[in-house]
Amino acid sequence: MSETSGNAIPAYLPLRNDLIGEEPYGAPQLDVPVCLNVNENPYAPEPAVIETIAQRVKEIAPTLNRYPDREHIALRQAFRDYLKKESGVDLAVDQLWGANGSNEIMLQLFQAFGGPGRIALGCDPTYSMYPEYARDTFTQWRLAHRNADFSLNVENTIEAIRDVKPAMIVLTSPNNPTGTPLAMDDLRRVLETAKTVEVAGAAEGVHPVVVVDEAYVEFRDPGTPTALELIDEYGNLAVSRTMSKAFAFAGARVGYLAASKGIIDCVRIVRMPYHLSAVTQAAALAAFEHTDEQLSRVAHLRETRNATAVWLREQTYKGRPLETAETQSNFILFGGHFDDRERIFDELLKRGVLIRVVGPDGWVRVCMGTDEEMARFREALVEALRIVEQD
Ligand SMILES: Cc1ncc(COP(=O)(O)O)c(C=O)c1O
Repeated sequence: MSETSGNAIPAYLPLRNDLIGEEPYGAPQLDVPVCLNVNENPYAPEPAVIETIAQRVKEIAPTLNRYPDREHIALRQAFRDYLKKESGVDLAVDQLWGANGSNEIMLQLFQAFGGPGRIALGCDPTYSMYPEYARDTFTQWRLAHRNADFSLNVENTIEAIRDVKPAMIVLTSPNNPTGTPLAMDDLRRVLETAKTVEVAGAAEGVHPVVVVDEAYVEFRDPGTPTALELIDEYGNLAVSRTMSKAFAFAGARVGYLAASKGIIDCVRIVRMPYHLSAVTQAAALAAFEHTDEQLSRVAHLRETRNATAVWLREQTYKGRPLETAETQSNFILFGGHFDDRERIFDELLKRGVLIRVVGPDGWVRVCMGTDEEMARFREALVEALRIVEQD
């Protein structure tokens, strides 16, 4: 893996004024033994899955002179079957939509509902790509602050919705980088508020879309409800999901959206023609033939997360135990009082462990790896804490 260096953009190029000085987004892709920085599933596909993917891609290869199914109907049917199995919610094919990662789903939502004169509201700290989608679609990005424990401050959020009249309210559950789940009661209150608010910059009678980004939702504790359950009740609710995390398919770039048919039809207006390649569709369908294998490590990753959180809270830095944010995801935000978190990051990196400096000052984020990787992480962190403390 390599990083292309620096953003040396020649001054004679007519880069948009608001993009001058901007850097491409992304966590460092470094070639280190233990990568715990981008919330992937650390377990590679099983040989049987690899075999099916190769076979299904081979089967469609003779048709690659033709454009793929623009509406990706077979894949939408597979999303339907999967969600029925995973969450017990049965949606129609026209309530589902796929794209190249949930990054593209989110961008399409911003393209459809954001834009000049429109506002999108998030609840910080949250996923750092949202302001980029807003920037790229000329949407104003506003924030309502979360509680100190990173749970949604529903009063603040409702006040902000009434105040800024956003076209989109972006909630993340579990949230990144904190891992915090969103309580269904809080989501309902936001949805009810959205019904009563008229969107700034839109015609009369237009209400905000509430987007729930459920990229990590399969890691929630079993039995916890998901926003999918409210789709049939709220026409303005959009739920974004991905195959990148629990489903262990990040490299294939497949995300999807579950929402009312109306929302899906809005997104279809802004999508690129043939945005999902035939190879991507075939690979995703092949992976869905092996849903159980692909998800087989989720329960173990959940246990790893719970055990790691307990272990982290037993460690101390400068005489105080480390804190961990409540998490229902495959990562943990920890620390809370690191006075120089970059040093913690550097000392871990020196020991071959890559984590992420993200979120509020004083905290860092680690995602769950294999048992061996977590053992190396624990060993490296103990040393890093000791060394940084001594300085
Ligand atoms: C909260 C959240 N949403 C969406 C994504 C995008 O994931 P993908 O485009 O791989 O589906 C990420 C990736 O880290 C994320 O953390």
